[in-house]
Amino acid sequence: MYTAIAHPNIAFIKYWGNRDQALRLPVNGSISMNLAGLYTRSTVSFNASKSDALVINNHVVGGKGLERVSYILDLVRGMANITEKAEVKSENNFPSGAGIASSAAAFAALALAASKAAGLNLNEAELSRLARRGSGSASRSIPGGFVEWQMGASEEDCFAFSIAPVEHWNLVDCVAVVNASHKKTGSTEGHAIAATSPLQQARVADVPRRLEICRSAILNRDFESFANIIELDSDVMHAVMMTSNPPLVYWQPATLGIFHEVRAWRSQGLPAAYTVDAGANVHVICLSEFAKEVEKKLRALPGVNDVLVAGAGGAAHIE
Ligand code: PMV
Repeated sequence: MYTAIAHPNIAFIKYWGNRDQALRLPVNGSISMNLAGLYTRSTVSFNASKSDALVINNHVVGGKGLERVSYILDLVRGMANITEKAEVKSENNFPSGAGIASSAAAFAALALAASKAAGLNLNEAELSRLARRGSGSASRSIPGGFVEWQMGASEEDCFAFSIAPVEHWNLVDCVAVVNASHKKTGSTEGHAIAATSPLQQARVADVPRRLEICRSAILNRDFESFANIIELDSDVMHAVMMTSNPPLVYWQPATLGIFHEVRAWRSQGLPAAYTVDAGANVHVICLSEFAKEVEKKLRALPGVNDVLVAGAGGAAHIE
């Protein structure tokens, strides 16, 4: 029996669309930061039962959720040459539905705990590839700190690695939790229709340039370049989402209101920038010395229900 902990991550250059939907091979590379303090803890044990069992936050989960977990367990069983079923117990310390990619932390923790429990000792790249099969962004929750997921030429070289450690840059993510009244379409379905947008080709064609600018901005701790490129990347991804068939509009009125505020703050000298994943909540990235001020300003805005604050987080690890 093994217990693993993994953090969710926030993408600065986004992954949207797969070239192979089943293997979750993305159409573009992406860059992210793990979120410290927020985590999924997963315990996996193989046993003599007739079927896999999944418990999340003390609730038994079946159906699609269990199927997705069993798919990863099957890959692990294949690699370890075992047939035993498994029990997976998982808990999050952050609210699910808060617009934080819980699937990234969940599948990274599952990949690590399950492979160890099956007697495997996978290296970081192998773990990242395994986690990717559950949720693409989970590949980025295996390495620590600031992470790049390379699209690779094949399944073998499609994994994530660290480009800078946690202590490299004191960035903080202030997540403004906005009330979303509509149930969101999951990212798996979203990736599958990305190519229906007439804007997706243009988005993907420009990714290498954005990756380069973002990577350099992180390595040089250049907040101004960083801010401009992450906002552009997020806006371009949402333009694709909104012009897909069927259209996916994740923003709420409060989401757009926060964009205007953040840009106004930045023009007044407060270093903060926004980015949004497949939800309505706004991740406002700033330097740690400004986090208190950003949090306070966000809490005062209409439509903001809560603000979660997280710095750069480490790699997935065994507890
Ligand atoms: O890993 P998935 O399938 O949940 O996709 C994540 C998609 C975004 O969060 C919108 C972007 C990203 O790179 O994390």
